[in-house]
Amino acid sequence: MRMRAAVLEEFGQPLEVQEVDLAEPAAGEVLVRLEACGVCHTDMYTASGADPSGYAPAVLGHEGAGIVESVGAEVTSLAPGDHVVTLFSPQCRECVHCLSDRTNLCLAIREQQNLGYLPDGTTRLSRDGEPIRHFMGTSTFAEYTVMPEIALAKVSPEAPHDRACLFACGLSTGLGAAMNTAKVQAGSTCVVFGAGMVGLGAVAGCRLQGAERIVCVDLSEERLALARGQGATDTWVGGESVVERVLEETGGFGADYTFEATGLVQVMRQAVESARMGWGLCTVTGVAGKGETLEVVPRYLITGRRIAGSSFGGVKGRDQVPQLVQRYLDGDIDVDAFVSHRLTLDEVNRGFDLMHAQDGIRSVIAM
Ligand SMILES: NC(=O)c1ccc[n+]([C@@H]2O[C@H](COP(=O)([O-])OP(=O)(O)OC[C@H]3O[C@@H](n4cnc5c(N)ncnc54)[C@H](O)[C@@H]3O)[C@@H](O)[C@H]2O)c1
Ligand SMILES: [Zn+2]
Ligand SMILES: [Zn+2]
Repeated sequence: MRMRAAVLEEFGQPLEVQEVDLAEPAAGEVLVRLEACGVCHTDMYTASGADPSGYAPAVLGHEGAGIVESVGAEVTSLAPGDHVVTLFSPQCRECVHCLSDRTNLCLAIREQQNLGYLPDGTTRLSRDGEPIRHFMGTSTFAEYTVMPEIALAKVSPEAPHDRACLFACGLSTGLGAAMNTAKVQAGSTCVVFGAGMVGLGAVAGCRLQGAERIVCVDLSEERLALARGQGATDTWVGGESVVERVLEETGGFGADYTFEATGLVQVMRQAVESARMGWGLCTVTGVAGKGETLEVVPRYLITGRRIAGSSFGGVKGRDQVPQLVQRYLDGDIDVDAFVSHRLTLDEVNRGFDLMHAQDGIRSVIAM
């Protein structure tokens, strides 16, 4: 079929919205009619050429939501009409990682996905017979996508697509960091560094876990106001003195749980140093620049602090994304507050401009 999609032709150049070809789903694959897609930093990062593992031409986009149009052979868990959220982090339910409750890093299709191919090592996307690669296994800046069944979460049809799509990446990452990775205990004190999509999700996750005190730290007053809306009890402007202030306000001990959602290694260090002696857990979600390292004085670890990394919030996508969407429908998570701009597919580059200017939390493209 022919469809419109936003293609990364050349790094550092705007995406080009154009007609491309999409082949039928092969065995184990599903054709999805996309309805909405969030615009995320990772798309912009890849488009800029800064990511050394990036490739072009490719159809970008990974925060998609839509409706199953048709399924390939051997697909058993999805049928036409099902509402789905796309997963850059799949769940095969069979690999050694999927069978463990200790990680969500499914091993089934990683290698081919990282190269821009579907699991059989080919693409369904092309133009004049020349293959175009799939981005993050999702390629959702498009009217349709073909994806493996194991990379689609079936969600309630009651959830509007333009809200459901946010669960495909940053929001689930933040929620899951608090709920799965840290497993925040009720009554605890939490400090969240960064109030973008991920940090705000972490604030909401801490609230859902019953944290008593949730401090959110950011440089933007506007974003700190959003953090209060998600349940932050204290909001502080970031800077060099934050660690000192955390210690001061916790009897010299530090916070039970800290979260880093900025991507800045110096803030990661603050998050480690703000964690409580004895049992403080620092969860790192930010993606640092290539080659950067996190500096930690070992004494912080000996005296009982721990550091955990969290990819997609430890969320096992097919099991847990539907549950998180249901919590939104139940009124537990205020997703509307995150949708700051609505765009058409043709305006996708404007989404990057808005993100660059830190204007709003998420732009959502309606297909
Ligand atoms: N682990 C994952 O699976 C995963 C998924 C999505 C995104 N990410 C990463 O998470 C990070 C956050 O993503 P986002 O979409 O929320 O980004 P964002 O840019 O919207 O938010 C980052 C926030 O950090 C704030 N900040 C900057 N300097 C600060 C400081 N010194 N102290 C406190 N706050 C400061 C900024 O003002 C901004 O609000 C990024 O690095 C992103 O790449 C990781
Ligand atoms: Zn993303
Ligand atoms: Zn797996």
